[in-house]
Amino acid sequence: MNMIAITPLLDKNSRSPLYLQLYHYVRKEIETGSLSAEQSLPSIRQLAQHLGISKNTVEAAYGQLVAEGYVASRERGGYRVQPLDELIPPHPADSHVPDANNRARLEKQKKPEFDFRYGDIAFDRFPHSIWRSCMTEALSSNPLDVLGYGDPFGHLGLREEIARYVYQSRGVDCAADQIYICAGTQHAISMLVQLLELQTSVIAMEEPGYDGVKTVFRHLGCALQPIGIAHDGIDVEQLQDAAGRAKAVYVTPSHQFPLGMVMPVQKRLRLLQWAAEHDRFIIEDDYDSEFRYNSAPIPALKALDTHDRVIYTGTFSKSFLPGVRLSYTILPSKLLDQVRRKLGSYSQASSPIIQQAVWIFMKQGHFARHVRRMRRVYQIRHKTLIDAIRNQFGDRARVIGDSSGMHLLLDVPGMGTEQLMELAESSGCRVYSPAKHWNEPKNCPPSYVMIGFGGLSEQQLKDGVKRLKKAWLNL
Ligand SMILES: Cc1ncc(COP(=O)(O)O)c(C=O)c1O
Repeated sequence: MNMIAITPLLDKNSRSPLYLQLYHYVRKEIETGSLSAEQSLPSIRQLAQHLGISKNTVEAAYGQLVAEGYVASRERGGYRVQPLDELIPPHPADSHVPDANNRARLEKQKKPEFDFRYGDIAFDRFPHSIWRSCMTEALSSNPLDVLGYGDPFGHLGLREEIARYVYQSRGVDCAADQIYICAGTQHAISMLVQLLELQTSVIAMEEPGYDGVKTVFRHLGCALQPIGIAHDGIDVEQLQDAAGRAKAVYVTPSHQFPLGMVMPVQKRLRLLQWAAEHDRFIIEDDYDSEFRYNSAPIPALKALDTHDRVIYTGTFSKSFLPGVRLSYTILPSKLLDQVRRKLGSYSQASSPIIQQAVWIFMKQGHFARHVRRMRRVYQIRHKTLIDAIRNQFGDRARVIGDSSGMHLLLDVPGMGTEQLMELAESSGCRVYSPAKHWNEPKNCPPSYVMIGFGGLSEQQLKDGVKRLKKAWLNL
């Protein structure tokens, strides 16, 4: 290995620690192809000497690269660059957000009869005419309210309605001025990174964890520290070990994504204690908490946050419509001044017209009614799907994460994800690989597929599962 290949300009006076500067440099070299797959990196000692920095610094940078799968450490010592395509999901996008190439490919593909796509909601049960009238009313509102840029924090009336809603449904007691409206969860995460200046920080992240936010963190320059998942959510012991490095942790306590467990209240308290003890923030993504089927809802982490350490994000994508591209962030009071100062230079990203219409929808009581009705709809769809899987597959398939939400994982031992997807496709069904939610996709158990059920009727779920059985078990 030519040592010149790793000669970053390290700035000892920067706010970003040296190991992160080195990590970012090597990561970029790998991403741009300057360091290619299978190339060996210099030993820790050699590089430390070459750059005039401590071995601990190089070790920490290498450790981060290994944790994120850019580099593998070899048994007999030494580090080797990993092929980049191992970091990229091996299958067509399994989410509702196909990338440009995949979209072109998917459009060419025949639309499957039964698409178990995660992200679809029950459009057939959506109150289209009420929503249309809210939109019409919004359009004829005072032009000053809806035709300009709007408040940088978002529509005040909507924020007041959200404050009421999260108090009633999630136990979160907050003022409207703590709420910042965003255009979806990825936008919320991206704004948080910018407003809280996390660009060069380490963020602890559930492993596996939601690829949608992982991508945003990565693209903005954050280093990710994967933290394993125990049977009851993120492993707090592992998080303790990461406390020295990670500035914040991203979690989905009410429905771990993608594995589906719910974090019990004792663990929530330990997580909060971790944040308070180490002066860290927790980003709580409460994306589908409306839809719990088998037990009483547990209050959000934010509801238990006596130390003012939780940044809460909620979305209208599941409870209402993904198409409104509307989400909300509840900020700890201690961050408000900082955020307010910075937000002065940003325009609000979501449309004032849409915000006005959603405000009207909430104010007139339609939203609470809609969520109640949809909970029932999804509960029935969920039960129908689980029953169908049990009836058709018996013990030849195992459901993972079956207590809430609008997706589950299915483990079909003895078969591979790719094979399962192909066989499903040839029988008119589309199921998805969850692998991209693993930091290294190859760590995703080989026989898992991801199944979304929000967009399929009961009959479609029953018929679809029957088809899957025929395709997979040849029965
Ligand atoms: C973990 C998680 N968070 C958030 C979202 C919603 O994101 P958005 O608000 O951008 O639609 C999803 C999925 O759609 C998700 O799986």
